[in-house]
Amino acid sequence: MLPSWLAQNPRVRPGLKFGRAQQFVINPNGIAELCDMLKDCPKHAPTPLLALPALAERLGVGEIRVKDESQRFGFGAFKALGGVLAVYNALSSAVGNAYHIGTNFADVMNGLHGEVTAPFVFSTASSGNHGRAVAAGAKLFGNRCVIFLPKFTSAEKEAAIGARGAEVVRVDGDYDAAVAECKRVSRENGWEIISDTSWEGYDKAPRIVMRGYCVLAHEAIAQQGRQAPTHVFVQAGVGGLAAAVIGYLWAMLPTRPTFVVVEPESADCWFQSNLAGKPMPASGNADTVMGGLACREISPITWDVIGQRADWFMTIEEDQVMPARRLLAHPLDGDPAIASGPSGCAGLAGLTRVCTDRATFEVLKLDAKSRVLLINSEGNLGETPV
Ligand SMILES: Cc1ncc(COP(=O)(O)O)c(C=O)c1O
Repeated sequence: MLPSWLAQNPRVRPGLKFGRAQQFVINPNGIAELCDMLKDCPKHAPTPLLALPALAERLGVGEIRVKDESQRFGFGAFKALGGVLAVYNALSSAVGNAYHIGTNFADVMNGLHGEVTAPFVFSTASSGNHGRAVAAGAKLFGNRCVIFLPKFTSAEKEAAIGARGAEVVRVDGDYDAAVAECKRVSRENGWEIISDTSWEGYDKAPRIVMRGYCVLAHEAIAQQGRQAPTHVFVQAGVGGLAAAVIGYLWAMLPTRPTFVVVEPESADCWFQSNLAGKPMPASGNADTVMGGLACREISPITWDVIGQRADWFMTIEEDQVMPARRLLAHPLDGDPAIASGPSGCAGLAGLTRVCTDRATFEVLKLDAKSRVLLINSEGNLGETPV
């Protein structure tokens, strides 16, 4: 019998093709070109894919590789990919609508069509990292930006948003309350919302945000070469990261890996949605140290990818976070040290939980030949010592 923290996806069909419904959410076309375009961006470079052979041996698998997003953009989290791209997309679309011409990163950054782009005010709700990414995008292109933060977001994350020139509005509630307030105030003021989660009638920005996340999946495939992963443990908040990773790998790899979606116990909206077969709220109050994963509701647009293709859903407990962060920061013999934040190490916390339970290790078909891919989705932003 499975433990209560692990559940299989009953909807997965082995032969299911990456079809139109999935392409609407995650479209692999043009991602390689997007990676090229990012070369125009100051400070951008692909992040490393780091092998942890000693840890793999300890956990009984063949290989563990970590896509280390703590080094993204000098920004410290994968989120930079989504927020910056979505801000650019809104501005370049406006230029296209005004003049029927294409544009590029450098031109928009240099204010070439400032009469069209400068009036934009960007806003979003965020538990921290996405807000920082949108703020960074707005700063890069010279726009005003307002970020709505839930009350639990750390002072460090607020300061990091402020340092990128954005105004911060503190909402007396959780992430979902911040989303509601952002929608209300933005509508009143005509601001452009760059959300990483979708809702009825609003999905364009979240789809562009996920397009940005595909860059990390594209890089990981290229870095992994012929040794494609057999298992991917990916953490989820609303599901944007998981949809990008699962969708892109599903579309691009000839052999589909086993996908495991990892969430905090109190913010298990994907776990609950999987059980119900449709989007459902989390069973808990999303009060977790994993701030980036503290979401009570999934991004509905990601259902056709994650809901159809993730093989397993699992939760982790709060006291499993710090050991995983320590394993990365103070590695076993010869493995590289990796700085991670509480949400960044969640994939490893999930893998460790599965590997230290014989029954779950076997049910996920892990063994000494397995090649596991993890994403360290954020670095240590100095919120807690490790
Ligand atoms: C560090 C980190 N990891 C993972 C996630 C989860 O991403 P998503 O909400 O797209 O599932 C977030 C979201 O903010 C995050 O900040």
